[in-house]
Amino acid sequence: SDTEKGGYPFYMLKEIDEQPAVMRRLVQTYFDENGQPQLDKDLLAKLNEADRLYILAAGTSYHAGLVAQPIFEKLAQIPTEVHLASEFGYNTPMLSEKPFFLFLSQSGETADSRQVLVKVNEWGYPSLTITNSQGSTLSREADYTLLLNAGPEIAVASTKAYTSQIALQAILAQALGQKRGVAAAESLPLKGQLGTIANTMQSIVDEKQEMDDLAKKHLATTRNAFYIGRGYDYAVSLEAALKLKEISYVQAEGFAGAELKHGTISLIEDGVPVLAIITDERVASHTRGNIQEVRARGAQVITIAMESVAEADDDIVFPDVEPLLSPLVSVVSTQLIAYYTSLNRGYDVDKPRNLAKAVTVE
Ligand code: G6P
Repeated sequence: SDTEKGGYPFYMLKEIDEQPAVMRRLVQTYFDENGQPQLDKDLLAKLNEADRLYILAAGTSYHAGLVAQPIFEKLAQIPTEVHLASEFGYNTPMLSEKPFFLFLSQSGETADSRQVLVKVNEWGYPSLTITNSQGSTLSREADYTLLLNAGPEIAVASTKAYTSQIALQAILAQALGQKRGVAAAESLPLKGQLGTIANTMQSIVDEKQEMDDLAKKHLATTRNAFYIGRGYDYAVSLEAALKLKEISYVQAEGFAGAELKHGTISLIEDGVPVLAIITDERVASHTRGNIQEVRARGAQVITIAMESVAEADDDIVFPDVEPLLSPLVSVVSTQLIAYYTSLNRGYDVDKPRNLAKAVTVE
């Protein structure tokens, strides 16, 4: 109903707007008064015994796992692999001696993920579910649960669950890293960073008209679109493309920028929108090079950049945050671009054709 939507035309827009509050709630829930992450001690002890972390998920949650992979490796120095649950079940990789399994699932009901958890329990390996749904199947069947507390997510296209999954994984990585004495975890002011990120997210959702304008200008009638990014921006480009595909039916693909020259550039023709995400200073100049290459072939380029690597004519620029956590911010603009593209094309944003919020069949 309209009251539940709080005056919003669609749940998706409401849920995008809720992200700053969701970040703040996570900080309140999972940090103590000294600003240190506070998590179940048994969970941390079990994780500390592990020699490798296996993240299992589907869809948008899989993309949240891809963003978290370098966060776990840098902050907790635990080797981390991210797998599509649907592939892992049948194509199980060689496991390490002491694996720990992390299931990421907004709904906690995804059958593809559950079939892996059933096997993990048969094997007797420890597991954690990070979910937005207390008492869900994946939560009940895993050894441990961490709740996102993001409030119900109604729109089929996931937004606040994705960002809260990333933030909660970062909190977990820092807690584990501190336990292991990893300098990067001890020196990162994560609580303060997440507060800054909440403010930066707020400034982006306050400027949503900009994203509406960009969607109208570049995505109103196109049949396809490309997202490019390197380093931390690559995983975001995959999620940005998925969001656009799901609700606007624009055929979209996310690419690692360097791969353009290995194939994708053949698809670039006059007028094709290419959205570039640029936050990672290690690779920013290379992404700029890719932008020139696609522009030279007629692409319409939209840039989303972090201030320290931004240029004068970038379309969306946001203030600097810890680079590892920049996906939390850069993705918000892409969520809004997908939202407005769907809205402007006249679709039911919250209920895209052929898709379900939770898929309980394999
Ligand atoms: C469905 C939804 C997606 C979601 C995926 C995984 O396909 O349409 O939005 O990302 O399931 O869902 P989960 O609840 O496991 O995160």
